[in-house]
Amino acid sequence: MKVCIIYHSETGHTRHIAQHLSSAYDCHLVEVYDRAPYTALTRFLMRCKRARSEETVPIEPASIDVSDYDLLIFGSPVWAFKPTPAIHAAMASVKGCGGKRAVAYCTHGGRPGETEAVMKKWIETRDMNFYGSIAIHQKDIENDKQNGELRKLVQAAHDSA
Ligand SMILES: Cc1cc2nc3c(=O)[nH]c(=O)nc-3n(C[C@H](O)[C@H](O)[C@H](O)COP(=O)(O)O)c2cc1C
Repeated sequence: MKVCIIYHSETGHTRHIAQHLSSAYDCHLVEVYDRAPYTALTRFLMRCKRARSEETVPIEPASIDVSDYDLLIFGSPVWAFKPTPAIHAAMASVKGCGGKRAVAYCTHGGRPGETEAVMKKWIETRDMNFYGSIAIHQKDIENDKQNGELRKLVQAAHDSA
């Protein structure tokens, strides 16, 4: 089974989880970069505003083709209780995803809010089969139990093929 993890990460927590997972499975990792212009002054507020209103932003890579993969995993930081505009852009533009199983995870600072529900909504909007999601507190990214829960979810999605 071929697995592709698509994630956005600014300070490394969500990337860390993706890299950890990829050591357990033979995964292709795609990091998505937010290419929206921000100034140092408005960066935090603009990010929160765009996340709250479920906007997308220009991303790199602009186009991701997942036709070759059987299981897709999407990872996002939580911004203003929602997934980030960059992972939204990736989920909205990914090609060849219809009918594929998808798992989501987010990393957060203690208040994930609606993030998992919104990721589920975006997955289903693109006709992927949502398998489940996990929210991981940033203090737990090295925690074997939390990482183990995500691995179990991915394994179950993997085995249900
Ligand atoms: C703009 C911004 C908004 C955030 N909003 C939230 C939030 O609403 N709830 C929360 O628990 N953490 C929030 N955080 C913390 C991040 O979700 C957390 O540090 C996450 O692990 C960062 O992931 P990364 O290191 O992969 O970028 C926010 C961080 C930023 C930069």
